[in-house]
Amino acid sequence: MIIGVPRETYPGENRVALIPATLPALKKLGLDAIVEAGAGTPAGHVDAEYEAQGAQIVSRKDVFARADIVAQVRTLGANQTEGRADLSEMRKGQYVLGHADPLGAPEAAADIAATGASLFALELIPRITRAQSMDVLSSMATIAGYKAVLLAATHLPRMFPLLMTAAGTLQAARVFVIGAGVAGLQAIGVARKLGAVVEAYDVRSAVKEQIQSLGAKFVEMEIEAGAAEDKGGYAKELGEDFYRKQRELMMKVVSHSDVVVTTAAIPGKKSPVLVTAEMVRAMHPGSVIVDLAAERGGNCELTKADETVVENGVTILGPTNLPATVPVHASQMYSNNVLKFLQGMVKEGQLNLNLEDEVVRETLVTRDGEVVHERIRGLLGVPAGRGEGGA
Ligand code: NAI
Repeated sequence: MIIGVPRETYPGENRVALIPATLPALKKLGLDAIVEAGAGTPAGHVDAEYEAQGAQIVSRKDVFARADIVAQVRTLGANQTEGRADLSEMRKGQYVLGHADPLGAPEAAADIAATGASLFALELIPRITRAQSMDVLSSMATIAGYKAVLLAATHLPRMFPLLMTAAGTLQAARVFVIGAGVAGLQAIGVARKLGAVVEAYDVRSAVKEQIQSLGAKFVEMEIEAGAAEDKGGYAKELGEDFYRKQRELMMKVVSHSDVVVTTAAIPGKKSPVLVTAEMVRAMHPGSVIVDLAAERGGNCELTKADETVVENGVTILGPTNLPATVPVHASQMYSNNVLKFLQGMVKEGQLNLNLEDEVVRETLVTRDGEVVHERIRGLLGVPAGRGEGGA
């Protein structure tokens, strides 16, 4: 079987789906690699490195024409404008895997289905222990959490650590992290390493200990979130009453923070507004908000995706693709995630679709010309199917 790696075409995307170091392990599964010329260059891997690991360097057309499995970081859906050009190259019998945003752009999945290709949307990998090593969202959120704090630090007109100098004592920066999932915990860790005083809040009180173990303070709030997690391990929508109460209770801590990092996302839904314009105006001029949920509207009312907004002296950043700004490690992690995903399915050069396996069932979006994932069918208004894909 042949696995193909096209160059990423999403604007500003510097990652590559497979790095040269992963190729020997793929070879052991019976997968020979073909790579589009220059695909790895933005991530620091020149063509010769791929060749040294046994790959052939080919044109983009050849990648799609010859590959049984096409591995991408962003396929159509997660690459709405440029990704469309690949549709005419996808074909029956081919497997395409990558971020595809099927919950946000289900019609793109329908377009892929129409080509006959089978699509695995890797963001649908369930958050279960067995699938941790394949979980691209966790890998990329780790990078986003790290980079969010560095961005905040460079925009802040103060330093992070407490410093006692001959020229006086400099107070440590106060950082507040909202949402202590993968990105949030990483942000807490990095902010602590830089010397900030860190507070954090999450609707899942179970993360209190994790927050404390990183040296941050868990902000207690007198509201009951109830069951805040769905069966896929992600946050559930909690309703406007809850969010209103939460905003009221957070006003004080937001207003005394120098940096606020927000990470509260609900998969497939608009992000809840947790920081209002009024709260921003209560912050000190010079403070910085980094809104990691910007792609789906943001957790701050004033966030504009991929723009810098300054309101009352407060800088609000809404970067939507931080992993692409750390392409070497982001590609290394993504490539390992793809390898682990394929190791569960490919043996001796044969791809075996075991629909009893929830990892396969939950990620398989299209097959045999149809959208087979029940949730995506629901979004498209297509009647329930053969019960192949995830519910
Ligand atoms: P996650 O699901 O692990 O963490 C989100 C956390 O927010 C959960 O712990 C959840 O309980 C919490 N949460 C939900 N509603 C909340 C509320 N109302 N108040 C406080 N906490 C709440 O998600 P992960 O993987 O850490 O990703 C976090 C965010 O970062 C997502 O929005 C994701 O899309 C985004 N992201 C952004 C990137 C970028 O470049 N901007 C790159 C990668 C991820």
